[in-house]
Amino acid sequence: MRMVDIITKKRNNEELSEQEIQYFVEGYTKETIPDYQVSALLMAIYFNGMTELETANLTRAMVESGETIDLSKIQGHKVDKHSTGGVGDKTTFVVGPLVASVGVPVAKMSGRGLGHTGGTLDKLESIKGFDIELSKQAFIHHVNKYRLAVAGQSGNLAPADKKLYALRDVTATVDSIPLIASSIMSKKLASGADSIVLDVKTGSGAFMKTLQDSEALASEMVKIGQNLNRNTIAVISDMNQPLGFEVGNANEVKEAVEVLQGKRVNDLRELALEIGSHMAVLAEVFETYEKAYQVLENNLDNGRAFAIFRDFVKAQGGSVEMIDDLSKLPTASHHIEVKATEEGYIEEIDAESIGIAAMFLGAGRATKEDKINYGVGITLKKKIGDQVKIGEPLVVLHSDDPSPNDSIQKVMQSYKISSTITEKKQLIYKVIY
Ligand code: URA
Repeated sequence: MRMVDIITKKRNNEELSEQEIQYFVEGYTKETIPDYQVSALLMAIYFNGMTELETANLTRAMVESGETIDLSKIQGHKVDKHSTGGVGDKTTFVVGPLVASVGVPVAKMSGRGLGHTGGTLDKLESIKGFDIELSKQAFIHHVNKYRLAVAGQSGNLAPADKKLYALRDVTATVDSIPLIASSIMSKKLASGADSIVLDVKTGSGAFMKTLQDSEALASEMVKIGQNLNRNTIAVISDMNQPLGFEVGNANEVKEAVEVLQGKRVNDLRELALEIGSHMAVLAEVFETYEKAYQVLENNLDNGRAFAIFRDFVKAQGGSVEMIDDLSKLPTASHHIEVKATEEGYIEEIDAESIGIAAMFLGAGRATKEDKINYGVGITLKKKIGDQVKIGEPLVVLHSDDPSPNDSIQKVMQSYKISSTITEKKQLIYKVIY
């Protein structure tokens, strides 16, 4: 087989065979095929797309390029959840214990954040002592015992994706739905769950800004999952404003705990119930979404989900005192209100700018080496559709700098106030099976 023939075929918009796809993925991973040839192929894929079969074969080849996690020693049907990423997204902290409370084992491999705020692991590490470095045996033991464990991604999952993603980044080929879908799904499939619920975000703070693009990505990922024998569904949810009211690290943990205790009724609770209900149905714990929703909602209100979260924190070495008394979580030294300078209704909140404002405070990393400040962050006081008067706070910045001018400016730019009533945002747009 010759790489030049594979490039020519794709350039001419013909379908690549499974062997051809395997050949280039393997060759690129082992560095027997050079960057310039793979770049040409990626550009041909960018323009001509991929068929459903090609996309499934590409995903499979990327999964097979490295290790896969064997979860067979965990009893029960393992359902994973993946979010395409957004600002204030702490859904995992609520969904994990929630589905574990009805017996669904949650074995979550997660990553650190490079961007506006920390990733799931960083947020968990804002709880003193929390250890995300579990050995494979400890990880499996924890899931069997507590129904929930979260660990850093270990091993060499989908190395082909790592190389291809880096190359796409510098060849203007990131924005291709089959390439994005296969990239995300290769890592999920290598993580070993039986079924997957995808939370595909749409809007200003999401990777996909339009509903149309988000739907296209979601459908492509669902098809990949089904073609590779994993039950997969996707929920398309709103990211035109941050999720919940807290953006940062420790303050996001606090909000998640309050939702788990049934003390906060907000969009985070709604999304967690939506995703959790689909997970519980895929795990065959309930026959219908409605039944699952009802039981999960009860488990938020009766403390069962919170009790599992508490056990999970304790099992991974985290400070339970901080969870029982949330004021003990790290906090910043200054709490600065950013106030409205006009009255009306909140029409838009640019979620990405809020994320960047949080990063300026120290809640996220601009480079891999940056250290996260767990106590800083942003509390939203107004969300889309809310009425606001002059002088009322839009947000509170939790900052160690007494004058965080860059963040203040970013927040001011992100809020758009209208003189006419604006509608609250819909949270769930669609579920794709
Ligand atoms: N996230 C991924 O993991 N891969 C992509 O291609 C885009 C976003």
